[in-house]
Amino acid sequence: MDQASSLRKIVDSKALKIKKQEHSRNASGTDIKGAPRVIAFTSGKGGVGKTNIVGNLALAFAKLGKKVMVLDADLGLANIDIIFDVHPKYNIGHVLSGEKELSEVMVDGPGGIKIIPAGSGFENLAHLTEGQKLSLLSEFEEFNDSLDIFLIDTGAGISSNVIYFNIAADERVVIATSEPTSITDAYAMIKVMSKRYGTKHFKLLVNMVQDADEAKSVYLNLTQASERFLNGVMIEYIGYLPNDPFVKQAVRNRGTFMDLYPDAISSKKLNEIAAAILQAPRRSDSDGNIKFFLKRFIDYRA
Ligand SMILES: Nc1ncnc2c1ncn2[C@@H]1O[C@H](COP(=O)(O)OP(=O)(O)OP(=O)(O)O)[C@@H](O)[C@H]1O
Ligand SMILES: [Mg+2]
Repeated sequence: MDQASSLRKIVDSKALKIKKQEHSRNASGTDIKGAPRVIAFTSGKGGVGKTNIVGNLALAFAKLGKKVMVLDADLGLANIDIIFDVHPKYNIGHVLSGEKELSEVMVDGPGGIKIIPAGSGFENLAHLTEGQKLSLLSEFEEFNDSLDIFLIDTGAGISSNVIYFNIAADERVVIATSEPTSITDAYAMIKVMSKRYGTKHFKLLVNMVQDADEAKSVYLNLTQASERFLNGVMIEYIGYLPNDPFVKQAVRNRGTFMDLYPDAISSKKLNEIAAAILQAPRRSDSDGNIKFFLKRFIDYRA
């Protein structure tokens, strides 16, 4: 048996074990702690608000009593650290190189949010060795039972990494603005994901619009194109954020608008979106579990 298949076997047996545990806890009628929902945020086009939305949504979930972890998988300039005003010493690159454990790299944000900072070594996941994947698996495994939500800021573009995170997550939130380039890039992302990888479910959050009508027209634009050209793709509209000066103001103050301006319309909208995401039933074909997420990660070949 080669190293990859023995790794897969280990993951499969662990996944089975956790399923059995969940089942028995279910059967005993006690309040089960479900496995975390793994949600990736993507856009195609850069600069449409992913990092701001992930950071603030993390806080919205935390305020709803959820235990949240954020993985900064965006190697661009404006990182999640700025929004949370944290200054991490280490990053995921140190975990991959074996210098640090995940718990040493993780930093605490507001509301008990755990942040895993982006770092080198993460640029091309397809090039990770099986050993690195295995050690990541066991590092993440520790947190599987203590988390409710695992959010991933995937960065711009449709590189193999961005695609990987979207495939491996249970839910994908596509963020688009009403700019034609943003709509085109969001569509390109959905097209690649559906045609090449068979991913059919997407949630859409429209950012920086004047009003609900403008957001709905972005949604219609995307759904009409998808219905015409992409077989079986389902795009679920989950809401919009207005073009809001408080969002920029919060970034300038190195904070979250949820925290600094709780009465701003963006904060209210994002609270509604967070509540709606939590209320939506988990899809039956998704296991919502970091272990399954990593299993897909191991199976993925760019
Ligand atoms: N709803 C909004 N209203 C006003 N400004 C916004 C809004 N959302 C985001 N912005 C601003 O847009 C800019 C880009 O936001 P952000 O960095 O979150 O985008 P991104 O998609 O993560 O970018 P990248 O692709 O470079 O990672 C920031 O200056 C941010 O303050
Ligand atoms: Mg970003």
